[in-house]
Amino acid sequence: MTVDEVILSVTEEAGKLVKIVCSSPIGAEYKKQILRRIEGGRFLLERYTPDKVFHIPIDGKDLEKCLKTQVFAGYKQTEVYFTDSALTVLTNGKGTVTVRRRKAETLMEAAHNRKKKYIFAEGEDIPALKDLGVFTAENKVAASMQDKFRQINRFIETVDDVLRDPPKELTVLDFGCGKSYLTFLLYYYLTVKKSVKTRVIGYDLKEDVVEKCNAAAKKYGYEGLEFIRADVSKDRLYGEKTDMVVTLHACDTATDHALYFAVKHGAKYIFSVPCCQHEINAQIRGKDDYEIFTGHGLIKERFSALLTDAVRVKALENAGYRVDCLEFVGFDTSPKNLMIRATFTGAPPVNNEELKSLLSKYNVRQTLLDLLDEGGQRKTGGTK
Ligand SMILES: C[S@@+](CC[C@H](N)C(=O)[O-])C[C@H]1O[C@@H](n2cnc3c(N)ncnc32)[C@H](O)[C@@H]1O
Repeated sequence: MTVDEVILSVTEEAGKLVKIVCSSPIGAEYKKQILRRIEGGRFLLERYTPDKVFHIPIDGKDLEKCLKTQVFAGYKQTEVYFTDSALTVLTNGKGTVTVRRRKAETLMEAAHNRKKKYIFAEGEDIPALKDLGVFTAENKVAASMQDKFRQINRFIETVDDVLRDPPKELTVLDFGCGKSYLTFLLYYYLTVKKSVKTRVIGYDLKEDVVEKCNAAAKKYGYEGLEFIRADVSKDRLYGEKTDMVVTLHACDTATDHALYFAVKHGAKYIFSVPCCQHEINAQIRGKDDYEIFTGHGLIKERFSALLTDAVRVKALENAGYRVDCLEFVGFDTSPKNLMIRATFTGAPPVNNEELKSLLSKYNVRQTLLDLLDEGGQRKTGGTK
């Protein structure tokens, strides 16, 4: 067989093509290449240098050209995986090609992925997640990161549910990004899986994690992904159009500052998983008909957390958002598992008087309500 005949046969079976892995370069610029199928009949070509990986989206109609000029040029070994079989293509660089076909293990891989229903499956090669310690060198989820991986994967799934038909460009702010596992995965999901031109900014108080995350973003050529040391409760943040605000376990009132920022700056999408709702817990004292909620520490803590999140949800609805509350992971993965998912509808704002009178009954203040009171509601009227 010649290389052209192999390419023709792969093109004829393109509907079943899962991925192609090229290794052992003979004169090729990249040490490895992977072409994988992504959504919408498209493909993604990943080209690896010793310290970087480049991602090139390929339209389905350009597959044959890509196979000829980019994929099958200059590699000793190429593995082609279809849904029902696989080819090993060996070439000696002088035009002689040996092709072996066998039953593909990708069938099992696909079944495995279907079972987990994750957007990112274990085994997917996302180099930045190795640097961050989520994946091992063999692309397995590190033992200590199983829960975190489940959380960030599920977080992305909830984003995916909403962004069925994503816009061409998106600006996303992550408040309290910490070690930024979610921030990296979200960036990767939007740019690589959804082909959205994305700007993502992660904010955190910690200088050292911000530095480390910026270094990883630079190393992998993730243009548009940036980390900034900031206190989101008082520092000046991004001043341009913001489409999406996310928080995953941003401590206590940092979540309120994120929600307020989203409302004030016209963010269309909010995905927020709150945690450490200390603010109301520290103020609330038992009296009258709600003493029953404050007599025991654990019940008081949970009641305060629920009251806090209920107020946040209602305040977002009053600001014109359609809100879903989801249990985003099981309680055993994380007890901080309530996600507030909100989409701006364009509905006119409603005042928060009812909420304020509810809180005055408990004699507590709540930061999101205070901020909305001081700063007013939406400035820009939402994004397209
Ligand atoms: C529990 S960690 C969560 C990190 C990350 N989102 C995740 O889920 O892995 C909370 C992060 O919020 C950051 N944080 C808390 N208050 C903040 C504030 N006012 N401004 C910026 N970051 C804040 C902390 O430094 C910490 O890294």
